[in-house]
Amino acid sequence: MTSNPTDAPPARWLRQLALGLALLLPLSASAAEVLVFGGTGQLGAEVARALHRAGHTVTVFHREGSGLERLQGVPVKFVTGDATREADVRAAFTARRYEVAVNALGKRGSDPAAFYETTQRAITAGAKAGGVRQVILHSSVGAGESRAIYPESRWPQMAEVLTAKDVAERELMASGVPYTIIRNAVLRNDAPGATERAELSTDQRRFGAVTRSGLGRLTADCALKADCLGRIFHAVDPQVALPAATRGH
Ligand SMILES: NC(=O)c1ccc[n+]([C@@H]2O[C@H](COP(=O)([O-])OP(=O)(O)OC[C@H]3O[C@@H](n4cnc5c(N)ncnc54)[C@H](OP(=O)(O)O)[C@@H]3O)[C@@H](O)[C@H]2O)c1
Repeated sequence: MTSNPTDAPPARWLRQLALGLALLLPLSASAAEVLVFGGTGQLGAEVARALHRAGHTVTVFHREGSGLERLQGVPVKFVTGDATREADVRAAFTARRYEVAVNALGKRGSDPAAFYETTQRAITAGAKAGGVRQVILHSSVGAGESRAIYPESRWPQMAEVLTAKDVAERELMASGVPYTIIRNAVLRNDAPGATERAELSTDQRRFGAVTRSGLGRLTADCALKADCLGRIFHAVDPQVALPAATRGH
C-alpha cells in the first residue's frame, strides 16, 4: 500500500486502524451486493457479467438514456443517476445496502479530466456513508508510483487524465474506506476464440496489456477477498500484445 507522506500521524493511524478492522472482519466472497458504476460501458459490462457469474447480486448505476445493450442476458438491477452529481451517488448508496462498489467509469471525450476525481470522490463519500466493505477502483498505469514507467511520448496527451486518476486513488486511500485499486496500461477487447490469462501483480513497474473480459474476471476474483484489500495491482495478460508505441516498458 502506498502511504501519503503529507498525512499528519493521527489521521494516518486512524486510517490504518480502520483498514485493520476491515481486514479482521470475516470476508465472505459469496453472494455480495455489488454496485457497479460504468456498468453499461465496455469494461463495466464485463465486470458486471463476471460478478454475476461468480454468484454476486449486481446493480448497475447508469444515466437516464444510457444504452443497456452490453448487459443483455446479464440479470442485473439498475439505479439511475449521474456519477458527477454527488447527490445522485449518495442516493444510490442510501436506497440499498451494498457490500462492494466498483468504479469502472470512463469519461466522454468532452468531459474534463477532473471527471475522474469528482466521480471517485462522490463514490468514496457514498460508500463511506453506506458502510460499504470494499471499493474497487479501476485506475490507470501512470498514476502514483507507476508514473515512472509511463511512456514519456504519451505523457503530454495523457497528463491531465492520469493526474486526475492519481488524485482519485490518493483520496480513496486516505478515506479509510477499504479499497482495492486495479490499474491497467492498455485495455483490449478479446480476440475471437482467445482465452484470457489476466493476472494481478503488485509490481507497480509492470506494464502490459489486458483484455476487458480478463479485467472483469479479476475484479470478481477480488470482491470481498481479504488479500485484495488495501492494495494496488497492475492487471496484465502476458499473452496480449502491446501496441508498438508502448513497447519497451
Ligand atoms: N488503457 C487503455 O488502453 C484504456 C482504453 C480505454 C479505456 N480505459 C480506461 O478504462 C475505463 C473504462 O473504459 P471503457 O472502455 O469501459 O469506457 P466506456 O465504454 O466509454 O464506458 C464508460 C462508462 O462510464 C459511464 N459514464 C460516463 N459518464 C458518466 C456519468 N456522468 N454518470 C454515470 N455514468 C457515466 C458510461 O455510461 P453511458 O453508457 O451512459 O455512456 C459507461 O458506462 C476508463 O477509466 C478508461 O480511462 C483505458
